[in-house]
Amino acid sequence: MKIEQAPEDYIKEYYEQDHEDIMGKYSKESAFVLSYLNYVSGKSVLNLGCGPQFYDHIKYFSELPSEYIGLDINQSTFSFIENSNNPELLMAKENAEENNVKTTLICGDALEFRKEFDNRFDSILGVGFFGTFKKEDLKILLKNTHLYLKTGGKLINIGWFDNYLPEEERKNKLKYQFDRKTKVGTDETIKIFEKAGFKLVKKNIFDVSDKEDYGWGKIMACVFEIKK
Ligand SMILES: C[S@@+](CC[C@H](N)C(=O)[O-])C[C@H]1O[C@@H](n2cnc3c(N)ncnc32)[C@H](O)[C@@H]1O
Repeated sequence: MKIEQAPEDYIKEYYEQDHEDIMGKYSKESAFVLSYLNYVSGKSVLNLGCGPQFYDHIKYFSELPSEYIGLDINQSTFSFIENSNNPELLMAKENAEENNVKTTLICGDALEFRKEFDNRFDSILGVGFFGTFKKEDLKILLKNTHLYLKTGGKLINIGWFDNYLPEEERKNKLKYQFDRKTKVGTDETIKIFEKAGFKLVKKNIFDVSDKEDYGWGKIMACVFEIKK
């Protein structure tokens, strides 16, 4: 599938905004999201739709993985990660290196099954990822994800719902695969995960106070486990 690549500046702004949220007005929203990264454990971890925060996320995992793979459809995600001089990003990369986390970045479409991922991961993480797909695609994605996880493996899914974004920002998100028009709501999302063989072990919804300014009304975080 041919997609319109996000420009590197778009990725840069996205990354910087995330850090501004963590430190500033939306520290509570960010803390809620980051607290769920603590459910990531095990030696082999996959971050789907990893975005530019791929390295930053490691420090919130409960265990340092020896293998950590990021998959994203936007090549600019990876050129930004490679070329940026952002001090936070440089520190996060250094942290991975010092702790011998073997990182691999792959540009590709998560809707395509990857044989080399079969039964390989202890944890799979999707931040702002699974919830952006329309129903039929989410089903395909979960079929793949289920095969990628080992028995007893965990899937951590964090998603943003109730769109309040300004028109221009929304348009760009749709153009660059950061969101999709016909995505699924919170309750239906969980049902689709359960139908795909995932068992819900934890769920929490954060109600954003200044929805219009933040751009979203709700953040849902879920932890699923699988038994094969
Ligand atoms: C809303 S962003 C989330 C980025 C990051 N995970 C975060 O924590 O903010 C969605 C990400 O999913 C990626 N993406 C969208 N569709 C994809 C697909 N089919 N396969 C792989 N990555 C995809 C986008 O390029 C983007 O980086």
